[in-house]
This record gives sequence, structure tokens and C-alpha cells, in this order.
Amino acid sequence: MLDLRRVEELLEKLTSLRILVVGDIILDTYLKGRVERVSPEAPVPILEVEGEEFRLGGAANVAKNLSSLGVETYLCGVIGKDEGGRIIRELCEESGINFFPVEDERPTTKKTRVVAMNQQLLRIDWESRERIRGKALEKILDFVKNLKVDAVIVSDYAKGVITDELMKEILKKEVFTSVDPRPKNKYLYRNVDLVTPNEKELKAMTGEGEVESLGRRLKEELSLKTLIVTRGEKGMSLFLDKEVKHFPARARKVYDVTGAGDTVIASITAFKTAGATWEECCELGNVCAGIVVGEFGTASVTPEKLLREIKIMKEELSLKDSTP
Ligand SMILES: Nc1ncnc2c1ncn2[C@@H]1O[C@H](COP(=O)(O)OP(=O)(O)OP(=O)(O)O)[C@@H](O)[C@H]1O
Ligand SMILES: [Mg+2]
Repeated sequence: MLDLRRVEELLEKLTSLRILVVGDIILDTYLKGRVERVSPEAPVPILEVEGEEFRLGGAANVAKNLSSLGVETYLCGVIGKDEGGRIIRELCEESGINFFPVEDERPTTKKTRVVAMNQQLLRIDWESRERIRGKALEKILDFVKNLKVDAVIVSDYAKGVITDELMKEILKKEVFTSVDPRPKNKYLYRNVDLVTPNEKELKAMTGEGEVESLGRRLKEELSLKTLIVTRGEKGMSLFLDKEVKHFPARARKVYDVTGAGDTVIASITAFKTAGATWEECCELGNVCAGIVVGEFGTASVTPEKLLREIKIMKEELSLKDSTP
């Protein structure tokens, strides 16, 4: 069980860390309104728009999570020369992220959900999945090479930023490197310190079978130092050199599971770099992700929220212990 003093001490250390997130930046937008009529033009509902919300997604959401924990956060990725790109710059500034945007001749990756009565009617995606090359690639490589940081997080959504060249440049830095993977890019992740697939991604990278044996196989095949498989409401499994350990998540009411994976990689990388043990990282990762799934929207975890949550967990535990 986590010790409050120890968590406070780790949180204090986080404030002196510099961490870079590099990967696919996404703008998540929500178009909300009312539906009262069917269109005379085609048999489809008409949404009368009442509001539009924007949120940082993908690598930018990982950066937002880091920043909110108190880490000095750097973000590098590609945006288009468009409205979406401008909004991402603004949101990064609001979140205290040091953003190094690389503009390219492609649209900003944007996912728009059309929502009425809390129901998604449609999702509209703007994106290019082509590999980044040329000037844009050079700029990213240059930035990654020259920035002094304590750790790097690779947030791969397979939209073209994460390539072999970039992974080589990152590994040359010889700092702690973690990857939130996409199965199709599996072979780009060799030799990194940590990869954090969910169960479905693990299976896509290995095959059908028990999580324990699949995880061991992936860890060995890619020569990973550590592997953490996230398992939704079951928590997560940690694969070290000799052993596999399971960390159950606390049962809780779930409002919104989007972004839980981003919170896991951000919090675990931050606490590991601050000196936490792997066991502490997994417990803290579960608590942070639990806070996020228990709130609407892609909420972020602050030190205050984290400490409050741990206190509540401790109280619950002591109540359980004292009831015969
Ligand atoms: N229903 C739940 N109850 C409690 N904790 C949860 C629940 N769902 C997810 N979590 C927490 O979030 C973590 C990550 O969840 P999950 O394995 O679903 O990641 P993911 O599929 O990568 O998420 P994402 O949708 O962000 O990509 C889990 O390890 C757990 O700590
Ligand atoms: Mg994920």
C-alpha cells in the first residue's frame, strides 16, 4: 500500500524533472446539440449545434497529464497550417506545455464527435497517416537531439511521426524512454525501457493466449527492459526480468475511459524518473488512471487530487479492516 509521505516526496521530485513527449498530436472536438427533426434532404437527423468543445488528444494529452502532475513538460509533434493547429497551440499554452510544433503540408489530426443527448451520432476524422519526411522530419530529429531532458515518452498513434529514424535518435539520448504503442509499429520499439500496451494491443502484437505468456514473449522478442500491460478495470500487469506482478485497479464508477492509457504512461514515466520503484509506479498509475476514468472528459490529475484519492483509499481500507 502506498505511503502518503513517500508519495509527497516523489511529487516534490517531479517538479524538478524535464520530460519530452514526442508523437502523434490529436485535436479531439465535440460538437454538441439537439436533434428534433429529420432532414428533408436525406433520411438523417439534423443537429442544431449548441456548442463546440476542444481537447488535447494523443501525444498532447500525455503532455497535459505530465504538466498537470507538475513536470516541466516538452511536446514535439506535427500540426497542419490550419485552425486545428492554432487551437492546439492555444490549449498547450493554457496547460503550461512547452510546445515545439512542426507544421507540415497535412491537416491537423482532428476527431470530431457529433453528440446529442450524450449519444454519439457520428465521428468525423481528418488525418493523414503518411510517414513524416523531408524538412518536417529534420526539424523533429533536430529538436529531439538537442533538448536536454530526463526522460522521453513516445506516444504513437500511427499517424506517421514515429519512425525508425526518430526512434534511433531518441535512444541515442540514453535517457529513460517509454512507448505507448500501436501494434503495426511493433518493431520500432526494440530496446526501450518501457512499453505500455493494453490487452488488445498485446494480443495484436503476439497472438491469442494468456496475458502472462504473451507478455513474456513480447518483452523478450523486443528486448524490452520492462513491459506493463494495462487491463482496463482489472488494473495492470508488470513484467520484470524474472517475475510478473499484477496490480488490481480499485473498483469505481466509470464515467469516461478515454485517455486512461495516456494517464498511465505519463504518470508511470514521471514517477519512475523521480526514483519510484516499479511497484510504486504501477500502484500510482492505477490511482491516477482511476481518477481520470471517474471524471467526465479527459480530466487531468493534480498532486492535490492524487493525495486526496490515496487518503480516501486508506480510509476505506482501515474501515474494511476494522469491520469484523
Ligand atoms: N473500469 C475501470 N475501473 C478502474 N480503473 C480503470 C477502469 N478502466 C481503466 N482503468 C484504469 O486505466 C488504466 C488503463 O486502462 P486501459 O487498459 O483500458 O487502457 P487503454 O485501453 O490504453 O486506454 P485508452 O482508451 O486511453 O487507450 C488501467 O490500467 C486502470 O488503471
Ligand atoms: Mg491506449
